[in-house]
Amino acid sequence: MRVGFVGWRGMVGSVLMERMLAEGDFNDIDPIFFTTSNVGGTGPNIGKSTPTLKDATDISELKNMDAIVSCQGGDYTKSVFGALRNIGWDGYWIDAASSLRMADDAIIVLDPVNRAVVDQGLSQGIKNYVGGNCTVSLMLMAIGGLFQHDLVEWVSSMTYQAASGAGAQNMRELITQMGFLRDSVADELANPASAILSIDQKITDAMRSGDFPSDQFGHPLAGSLLPFIDTQLDNGQSREEWKGQSETNKILGTSASPTPIDGTCVRIGAMRCHSQALTIKLKKEVPLSDIEALLAEANPWAKVIPNDREATLSELTPTKVTGTLSVPVGRLRKMNMGPEYLNAFTVGDQLLWGAAEPLRRMLRILVE
Ligand code: HSE
Repeated sequence: MRVGFVGWRGMVGSVLMERMLAEGDFNDIDPIFFTTSNVGGTGPNIGKSTPTLKDATDISELKNMDAIVSCQGGDYTKSVFGALRNIGWDGYWIDAASSLRMADDAIIVLDPVNRAVVDQGLSQGIKNYVGGNCTVSLMLMAIGGLFQHDLVEWVSSMTYQAASGAGAQNMRELITQMGFLRDSVADELANPASAILSIDQKITDAMRSGDFPSDQFGHPLAGSLLPFIDTQLDNGQSREEWKGQSETNKILGTSASPTPIDGTCVRIGAMRCHSQALTIKLKKEVPLSDIEALLAEANPWAKVIPNDREATLSELTPTKVTGTLSVPVGRLRKMNMGPEYLNAFTVGDQLLWGAAEPLRRMLRILVE
């Protein structure tokens, strides 16, 4: 199987390459690497030789692929995908970008949750397989068991989203902002007798000053938070919030009678783990121990964390989860609103299950 890779050098693409190497995925395919900037250059070191880099805009090269995996972004998809299909290219298009996600002839891939939907798409001859929004995919990896057992009436998701979701440059800017704040009070921090309110005032002045590094986010994130992610829609939601319901139901194959999902999406100063506080209205009263069991059984990565202070603070944080495929879900308890209202908190690596891993696994499904 000839598989073309585009955007393999970027952040999501690099994570994909790491995961494919770790799983030995390159052994079973014939990988061909494309570039938008270095045609004729050398491909990545994947333990076997590959042709020199081909032009990612050259349709006559792309059309020779049995499958193309793109982590190059939505603009690339928009410029190349239609042209390829128009000349009759019939290969599999596997994409990290959102442009094709909601198309009728595209499946959103998250096989531990929707393998049946993926298999149905394959048997119907669907050729476009797109990774979901990171927040949606991570939420479903965590509480997929509740959907599987048809227990969910609605979900409110309040998110705490990492800088990586906004891009590599944003991760750098977050750290730069942190350093700027620290540097602005270095003398006061070194002096234990300095007054905390004067430190606070200097930090506030630094965040509000024109010098504060905020080209990427446009606003201070370090020491603050940003309660609006992606573009503004006419209904008052952000686009990120809109994706919650529309993508969840598309992934589950329930778009015809969608489960309501809504909440507020917030950027916080974590590096690459998105966290979510969930309020879940269950369709019926279910004992907490049963809920814990079905969440844990739903897939090998969802990990139930006991609702205990120490376990929560050591297991249910971005610091613990970053760089791993584990999707812990904890703070599980019934809420004051009634026995059908479930509280939950979950954390997941936005670059792994939120981006690269579902694509890697989709390619594996095609190879097998
Ligand atoms: N839109 C997400 C975010 C990342 O900004 O965090 C990509 O799914």
